[in-house]
Amino acid sequence: MAEPIYSPGLEGVIAGETAISTIAGGLQYRGYLIDDLAEHSTFEEVAFLLVHGELPNADQLAGFRQRLNKAASIPTAMTEFLGQIPPGTAMMDIMRTGASALAHWDPETGDNSHEANVRKAERLLAQLPVVMATRYRLARGKKPVAYDPQLSLAGNILWMLFDKAPTERSTKAMDVSLILYAEHEYNASTFTARVVSSTLSDMHSAITGAIGALKGPLHGGANEAVMEVLKEVGTAEKAESWIRDALAKKRRIMGFGHRVYKTGDPRAAYLHTLCGQLAAETGNQDMEAMADTIERIVRGEKGLPPNLDWPSARLYYYLGLEVELYTPLFVVSRVAGWAAHVIEQLDNNRLIRPRANYTGPALRKWVGIDRR
Ligand code: CMC
Repeated sequence: MAEPIYSPGLEGVIAGETAISTIAGGLQYRGYLIDDLAEHSTFEEVAFLLVHGELPNADQLAGFRQRLNKAASIPTAMTEFLGQIPPGTAMMDIMRTGASALAHWDPETGDNSHEANVRKAERLLAQLPVVMATRYRLARGKKPVAYDPQLSLAGNILWMLFDKAPTERSTKAMDVSLILYAEHEYNASTFTARVVSSTLSDMHSAITGAIGALKGPLHGGANEAVMEVLKEVGTAEKAESWIRDALAKKRRIMGFGHRVYKTGDPRAAYLHTLCGQLAAETGNQDMEAMADTIERIVRGEKGLPPNLDWPSARLYYYLGLEVELYTPLFVVSRVAGWAAHVIEQLDNNRLIRPRANYTGPALRKWVGIDRR
């Protein structure tokens, strides 16, 4: 066995193999640069690529869309249950519970074959947006809106949330954000999904665990935390003094820094342009200017580039989405990557069970309770 190495936070550790994505040479999903996918593909094509291994041809895409349309509903009992969860429950907790609860109605929950896991992945892709939109509307005393088979998955997200036909522009922006969020190698939530599956547990358990990992503000929860920061700053005028003060107080600035990108996150660069366009169309140039000032100073003072969550929070804001939906939107996209990793893990499984350096007391004698 190789000499054990210790790296806090597993930084730099190669913890497994994957053919799904790489960050070497620019982020690629199965060999395709994310810029090309964001520019030319749809989220459905990208999800198919991740789960099935290749981009679909026209027939495959049509079949996939049909399966998504068929799966895009949840049992009535689950709708009722979503309505009964206490008011004020965080939407990420709803997503976690939703993924777990969907297992009870899935016909193949306990089947861990490659084929069954692909089918479950497709169902989860269609059902999780329904869970999100259903709860969002019920919590506001509104009736859920059914998935529209004529619309894309991105279009359906906007449709099911707002009960209003989405514009081409907003659908495209949503679609691009879903493509960019879909996959990212061995990040914390994906690694969680792989650890869970490596015990030969099931797809729904792996996705439920991954959602739990994603919700933290150092990971997916950062996109919500970013918007809290932008709201706190308020205006472009106040941005420079706010950020200088925050850095002087050693505050962690959400949306900046990354474990594996030290010079820049290619996803953030791509979304920055889209944010600028949407901001101009929606009259949000002041927020864009505020974000640019903060970005310039954090880069200059700390050498930290923004990560994907920095522009995506603004993108969702410009689309009129409430902050509590930002990380759930990450879920409905990343489920494609998580599921692909679960399938890959199980295709060539070995239990993930690392070791720890022991830092506790040296060996000592047991003492009876009357002498402690
Ligand atoms: N603001 C201020 N300082 C920072 C930040 C930040 N956002 N990120 C890192 N640093 C500093 C940190 O204080 C430390 O400084 P020092 O060496 O003086 O103590 C140094 O940079 C290294 O930080 P670290 O936390 O050890 O680095 P890491 O590789 O463990 O951190 C990170 C990666 C993403 C947790 C961190 O950059 C961070 O907390 N960023 C803010 C949260 C965030 O935006 N998360 C989203 C990540 S990307 C999307 C996703 O995967 O979900």
